[in-house]
Amino acid sequence: MRIILMGPPGAGKGTQADVIKAELNVPHISTGDMFRKAVTEGTPLGLEAKSYMEKGQLVPDSVTIGIVKERLSQADCQKGFLLDGFPRTIPQADALAKTLQELGIKLDAVINVVVEREALVARLTGRRVCKSCGATYHMLFNPSKTGEKCEVCGGELYQRNDDTLATVANRLDVYDKQTAPLIEYYRKKGCLIEIDGDKAVAEVTQNIMEALKRG
Ligand code: AP5
Ligand code: MG
Ligand code: ZN
Repeated sequence: MRIILMGPPGAGKGTQADVIKAELNVPHISTGDMFRKAVTEGTPLGLEAKSYMEKGQLVPDSVTIGIVKERLSQADCQKGFLLDGFPRTIPQADALAKTLQELGIKLDAVINVVVEREALVARLTGRRVCKSCGATYHMLFNPSKTGEKCEVCGGELYQRNDDTLATVANRLDVYDKQTAPLIEYYRKKGCLIEIDGDKAVAEVTQNIMEALKRG
């Protein structure tokens, strides 16, 4: 299946993608993860993305569209994909539509995970991520069973540097302005599925999987 997972920062896109990608056996393509990897490795892409990410702004469309286009043309995407955090602007959505048309494929669903702003702030400022395997936790809502270490791999947990209160507020404003219009964009195309993200993680997953089966 070819799916876009949309939703504001902290909606649970990454958390849900981890489960859904295994259920559907498709690659999880997160532009945020790709940029963070590039920043850690100090590549030219990382150097460019870093200054935008630190401020909670979007990386320019020209850069972002290029990396997704290249990723979607790789062999493992032929069986489907789960896009997380892309598209995030109307030009990105238009570019994606064009790329898919060129590749001769169609989207199956756009899932919008809906969560109120107050809950998002609490989720983001309390998030912790494993340095080694990327597993996501929350200090209160989803703590690691092994305390300070990752319960999957024993890795060290860290706070993303864009998860501070000031940057979170900016990311949510950027979302409202630049990304929220995509909800209408995909609704008009008739492929939007809205899911209440303010429920327990497993319940959200179940609702997404059921909605995908209904088609
Ligand atoms: P990105 O990494 O995509 O960040 P984001 O969209 O801000 O989303 P998050 O990863 O913060 O949230 P999420 O929805 O994945 O939530 P999670 O599952 O972790 O992008 C980062 C930056 O990269 C951008 O700001 C931009 O600079 C750049 N970028 C990326 N894509 C771009 C693009 N297309 N164009 C331009 N620039 C781009 O969950 C959050 C927390 O909540 C966790 O602690 C989790 O444990 C907890 N949680 C999850 N579900 C629940 C639940 N049901 N109940 C309680 N807690 C929950
Ligand atoms: Mg994420
Ligand atoms: Zn880990």
